[in-house]
Amino acid sequence: METEILYADPEGFDEAVGVAVQKLNEGEVVALPTETVYGLGANALDENAVAKVFEVKERPSFDPLIIHIATREQIYEVCDISPELDVVVQQLMEAFWPGPFTMVLPKKDIIPDIVTSGQATVAVRMSEHPVMRAICKELGKPIAAPSANRFGRISPTSAHAVEKELGGRIPLIIDGGACNAGLESTIVRVELGEKRPELHLLRSGPVVKEEMQKIGKVIRPKKPRNVEEAPGQLDSHYAPATPLYIFEKPEDFVPDPALSYGLLSYRGAEKDGYIELHDWAVIEELSPGKGKLPEAAVRLFFALRQLDESGVDVIVAETVAETAIGVAINDRLRRASTKIPSV
Ligand code: TXA
Ligand code: MG
Repeated sequence: METEILYADPEGFDEAVGVAVQKLNEGEVVALPTETVYGLGANALDENAVAKVFEVKERPSFDPLIIHIATREQIYEVCDISPELDVVVQQLMEAFWPGPFTMVLPKKDIIPDIVTSGQATVAVRMSEHPVMRAICKELGKPIAAPSANRFGRISPTSAHAVEKELGGRIPLIIDGGACNAGLESTIVRVELGEKRPELHLLRSGPVVKEEMQKIGKVIRPKKPRNVEEAPGQLDSHYAPATPLYIFEKPEDFVPDPALSYGLLSYRGAEKDGYIELHDWAVIEELSPGKGKLPEAAVRLFFALRQLDESGVDVIVAETVAETAIGVAINDRLRRASTKIPSV
């Protein structure tokens, strides 16, 4: 299959949106830009189209999809929200929508089981990317869109990365530029709770705990009881093809002289302990100089791809401060790693 790429720059915007909507209406899958990562979109109400998403991504059917909507009102078409819960949902929408924030809520029957892997809840978000919003609005139906990578691999943050992941498997990629959040949305399951609303954190992301705490109690499930409870919380995920190691402290790294190593460095600083340890074949810096976590988040998946394609035998990754969006960066690094340290 030939994969067409359409640029949604100011000149091509209307055409790109129009062709994407046409393809989605025809039951096709289309790669679409969002502010977090590129998504592989399908009309969420069309079971056959959603089935194609699973097939193209080689995604297991037990891993449910996020649906994207264009307006806040649309949430009531897809979710079954009690008046009590609505008070919390409205506060959350006010605070974080449009944006990189996904709510898991009771679903309405209109959402096919294939989208939610048979669960009674659905994950929903409203993206702030102008291209995604325009396509959602013109389609007038929710768009089911997981990240546009093959299952378990690094999420794409550019149209070029999507082409590498899924080129030849899908008919159309809409190029809306590089993603400006760089990590997948924060996911919470919203519940009423006894005293305060409960936000069960299923995936850390750009909307951080400190912000959410103003609205409800943020609860981090220790270990998911089962795969249905947190299907995306697989220990191994977001992984490059090259083995990736993280260490508790730099001195734990003992290189094998027969292998070549690439370093994923936070800020390229010697004081972080890794740069001087070894004669690295390649070094990718996430936020050169001072080290800023949001910049590191934006560059993370891009840098991982660069290292993966550099031909090194092993990638060593520094973790970052476990604060704000650093929590989500470290989460992705642990899941990308070959061995998860017992921390
Ligand atoms: O930023 C994002 O969220 C991107 C962009 C494209 O919107 N999408 C994304 O989708 O990351 P995906 O499919 O790669 O990850 C969605 C995760 C699933 O792995 C699953 O764990 C969780 O969302 N999820 C979906 N529905 C759920 C549900 N009903 N209950 C619990 N978790 C759910
Ligand atoms: Mg994904």
